[in-house]
Amino acid sequence: MTTPRYLTDDWHDAERTFAVTSPATGEVMGHAADCGGAEAKAAVDIAWEAFEHWRAVNPFERAATLRRWHGLIMAAQDELGRSMTMEMGKPIREGRGEAAYAAGFVEWYAEEAKRVYGTWFPSHLQGKRLLAMKQPVGPAFAITPWNFPAAMLTRKAAPALAAGCPMIVKPAKQTPFTALRLAELWVEAGGPPGTLQVLTASKPASVTGVMMADPRIRKVSFTGSTEVGKLLYEQSATTVKRLSLELGGHAPYLVFDDAELDEAVSQVLACKFRNAGQTCVCTNRIYVQDGIFEAFAERFAAAVDALEMGDPLADGTDIGPLVDGAGLAKVLEHVDDAVAKGATVVTGGRATGGRYYRPTVLTGVTDDMAIMHEETFGPVAPLARFSTEAEAIAAANDTPFGLAAYLYTRDLARAIRVSEALEYGLVGVNDGVPSAPYAPFGGVKESGIGREGGPWGIEEYLEVKYVSLKLG
Ligand code: SIN
Repeated sequence: MTTPRYLTDDWHDAERTFAVTSPATGEVMGHAADCGGAEAKAAVDIAWEAFEHWRAVNPFERAATLRRWHGLIMAAQDELGRSMTMEMGKPIREGRGEAAYAAGFVEWYAEEAKRVYGTWFPSHLQGKRLLAMKQPVGPAFAITPWNFPAAMLTRKAAPALAAGCPMIVKPAKQTPFTALRLAELWVEAGGPPGTLQVLTASKPASVTGVMMADPRIRKVSFTGSTEVGKLLYEQSATTVKRLSLELGGHAPYLVFDDAELDEAVSQVLACKFRNAGQTCVCTNRIYVQDGIFEAFAERFAAAVDALEMGDPLADGTDIGPLVDGAGLAKVLEHVDDAVAKGATVVTGGRATGGRYYRPTVLTGVTDDMAIMHEETFGPVAPLARFSTEAEAIAAANDTPFGLAAYLYTRDLARAIRVSEALEYGLVGVNDGVPSAPYAPFGGVKESGIGREGGPWGIEEYLEVKYVSLKLG
C-alpha cells in the first residue's frame, strides 16, 4: 500500500491518516492524509507565493494548461467514475457522467481564461481616458462536497485557475481520492507548483479555521449545508473575503394538468433519483395538479418501482447506497414522520440492509411533515396535490430555500409566468436536469450567494480595478 499523500507545492507523505469506507460494502477502501492547522498554514504561504507567478502567466498559457488538464480528465473518465462510485456510492454510469461533467468545467474555463476583458469607457471631462480592468482576486480556498467529488472541485478550481488565482481545496472526508487524482492530473498537465493544492482532512475545522483567519486567502467557495455556510459567512467577515456559497435546497416540482404524462414522469424521475436523491437540486416535493394526480401517481410509482437498486459498480444499477449512516437515518426519520402523520407509502418505504433504501413514493403528504420542509437527501418522492397555478406558486415559494425549482407544462405563457414567479436561482421547465458547465448555478435566499458555471463563474474570482488616465 502506498503512503497517503497530500499536495501543496509538492506531494507530501501524511503524518496522520484517516480511514475511508466504501458505502456499498462498508469496508475500508483506503487511508487519506489527515491534514490540520500546520499543513493549512504552509499551504497558504505556498499559495501566496504561487499567486505572484500564476497571475503573471499569459492567459493563453493558463488556458493551454487547463486544456491539457481537460484532456487528461477525459482520458481518465472511467477511472475517475469508478473512484467516485467506490467512495460515495453513486451508480457507475453517473460516475462516468460526472467525470465528463467535471471535465466540461475545465474545458469551458480554458476558453474563458482568454476572455477576461476590461472596458474603456467615456468621461465627461475632456482629455481623460477611463479603464475598468479585471484582475485575479488572489489565493482562493474551496470546500467541496462528497455528492459530486469531481465536478464540484473543477467547478470551483477551473475558473479560479483560469483567472490567475491559486486554489487550495479541502475535499469532503468521504471522497478524498477523487480530489487527489484530479490534482495529480493537474500536475501532469503542467500546472505549476502551488497553483492547485489538495489538503484532505477528517476534521474540516482545523484546516478551514486557518484559511478563514488568514487575510491572504481572498476568496472562499463552499458547497454544502446551510448551517456550515452561515458559519463561513460569519467567519469571512473578519478579513472581508469574497464568498460563494452553494447551500441547501428544497426544490419543488410543479406538474400541471396539461403535461405530457410519460415525459413528465421521466423528467421528475431523473430529477428526483439522480445520485439516489443526494443532489442539492434534486426535487424534494412534487406538486401535481388535481386533474392528473391519480394518473401521474400511478405511472410515476410504476417507474420508481422499476428502478434497479444494487451494486453501484454494476452497469445496470440506477440506485446505489446512501453515503453514510447519518444519510440513511435522515431518510428513515422523514418517512417515519410522514407515515405517522398520515402519508401513504405507494412503493418502497423500507431499508434493505447496509446503507440501501428502496426508492419510495409517498402520497397523502401534508405541510406539517418534515419532508415538506427539510432536505431529505435521499430517494424519497412525496407527491402533493394542487388546484390552481397561484396555489402551486405560493406552496413552491413557501420556504427559506431558493436553489432549484421545476415545472412541467405545455403552455408557453404559463411556463414563462411561473418561471418568473418562482423565487429560485434556477428553474427547469420541462427539464429535470438543467445543470451544465456553461450555465449559471446557484441559489437565492438561504440557498446561497454567487453563481458558478459559465461566464458568471469566473467573475467570482475577479476584481474590477478602475484606472483613470488624464492625458497631458
Ligand atoms: C450539487 O448537488 O451541488 C450539484 C448538482 C449539479 O451540478 O447539478
